[in-house]
Amino acid sequence: MGVPGAGKGTQAVRLTEALGVPRVSTGDILREAVQNGSALGRKVRGHMEVGALVPDEAMGQLVAERLGRQDARDGFVLDGFPRTLDQVAILDRVLGSLGAKLSSVFLLTASERDIVTRLAGRRVCPGCGAVFHVNNRPPRSAGVCDDCGSALVQRQDDREEVILERLDVFRKRTLPIARAYAERGLLTEVDGAGEPAQVFVRLQASLGNA
Ligand code: AP5
Repeated sequence: MGVPGAGKGTQAVRLTEALGVPRVSTGDILREAVQNGSALGRKVRGHMEVGALVPDEAMGQLVAERLGRQDARDGFVLDGFPRTLDQVAILDRVLGSLGAKLSSVFLLTASERDIVTRLAGRRVCPGCGAVFHVNNRPPRSAGVCDDCGSALVQRQDDREEVILERLDVFRKRTLPIARAYAERGLLTEVDGAGEPAQVFVRLQASLGNA
């Protein structure tokens, strides 16, 4: 977990590669649904465009279905879920039904300056989901995905007014779950400042300690 732009997606990709388990990013799943125009996509689009959270019930169904798949049987990295206290309870139920449990929760931190710079410069690939940054991780050819050649786009919710709303939602609804996981002894805070590779070294060290 972490504030928007803290680098959750960037670090989760590295972590899943290192651990050989799937990454379950609720943001990516929802964006794909919106792009495909599926029933779920039509239901959640309005929430996402204004930086609001998607209702817990819809998130619960989505996560239960995803974690129940075969590839998640030996573990997974959750990115962006849970985000509310009700989602913590939903996750407890889903994991209980699968006979699984959380081993660690990481809270990635970042300064407001870094967050704004990272989100304003982020470019994403609508074809394969790869994430770039105009300065920090530029594609080889400007505006074109290195992996699949699609034209890169800016996320709808990376507009300034929506970023501010997402930060507010994080403080009000998601930070309280960090306290809940800290009380369970599962939470480790990881400093998200610096190059992605430096952050990953800290994350791996925290994982080793946890
Ligand atoms: P989601 O996609 O989860 O967005 P978010 O939490 O706002 O986080 P971001 O994806 O913006 O940032 P990130 O921390 O992953 O940073 P990244 O690695 O990309 O959710 C989007 C929406 O979906 C929500 O607003 C909500 O509507 C809905 N939703 C999702 N889950 C939900 C849930 N559980 N319940 C209800 N609704 C839900 O990095 C950002 C940029 O910075 C990139 O360009 C990257 O290249 C760059 N960068 C990363 N790390 C570094 C670094 N160390 N140094 C320099 N640049 C860096």
